[in-house]
Amino acid sequence: MHALGVFFLLLQAVLALLAASYLYYDWKLGAASVPSSSAAGRAVAALVPPDASSVVDLGSGWGGMALAVARAHPQVKVTGIEYALPPYLFSRLRQFFSPALKNLSFLREDLFGYPLAPVSAVICYMPPEMMERLAPKLARELRPGAVVISNSADWPGRTPEKTVEVPALLLAEKIFIYRIAS
Ligand SMILES: C[S@@+](CC[C@H](N)C(=O)[O-])C[C@H]1O[C@@H](n2cnc3c(N)ncnc32)[C@H](O)[C@@H]1O
Repeated sequence: MHALGVFFLLLQAVLALLAASYLYYDWKLGAASVPSSSAAGRAVAALVPPDASSVVDLGSGWGGMALAVARAHPQVKVTGIEYALPPYLFSRLRQFFSPALKNLSFLREDLFGYPLAPVSAVICYMPPEMMERLAPKLARELRPGAVVISNSADWPGRTPEKTVEVPALLLAEKIFIYRIAS
């Protein structure tokens, strides 16, 4: 077999491995690593309160939304929490190529174990079933005045402080903003 044949065989193996791991983590975690659009990332960044000191992206995927917030708010500490290995590694790579962003970090952790008490704002893009699982943790741990900015899924049983439509060519996205009552 010549070199080109070996190259395509390896490429197929890598793609098959990526596809298998994507399906595995989707099945294990209950949320696929589908990224927010860049317009939604910018809209979320614009909604972060100016007095926020720390923002956590719960399920940061490939890192786009956390990066958008870190770029827009260099004074805010931004942390992305992601458990699935391929998107986590990719987000670390993006961080490596953005050395100016000293305020951004990514952790490979289960978001359900990450403490939210010190956090000023949570951002997320989750399917509704995951938002339902996440809601009790948000209600229990976030301090009064903290903000939840959720792309697409609402917080069941709560009235948003504000909603924002992000126009798109195919499907408009809706962003929900909630504030923990004092
Ligand atoms: C729809 S993606 C959103 C990615 C990113 N926030 C964005 O807006 O582009 C949701 C991510 O949450 C991650 N996730 C789901 N459950 C998780 C858990 N228990 N711990 C950490 N990450 C989780 C998934 O792996 C997936 O990458």
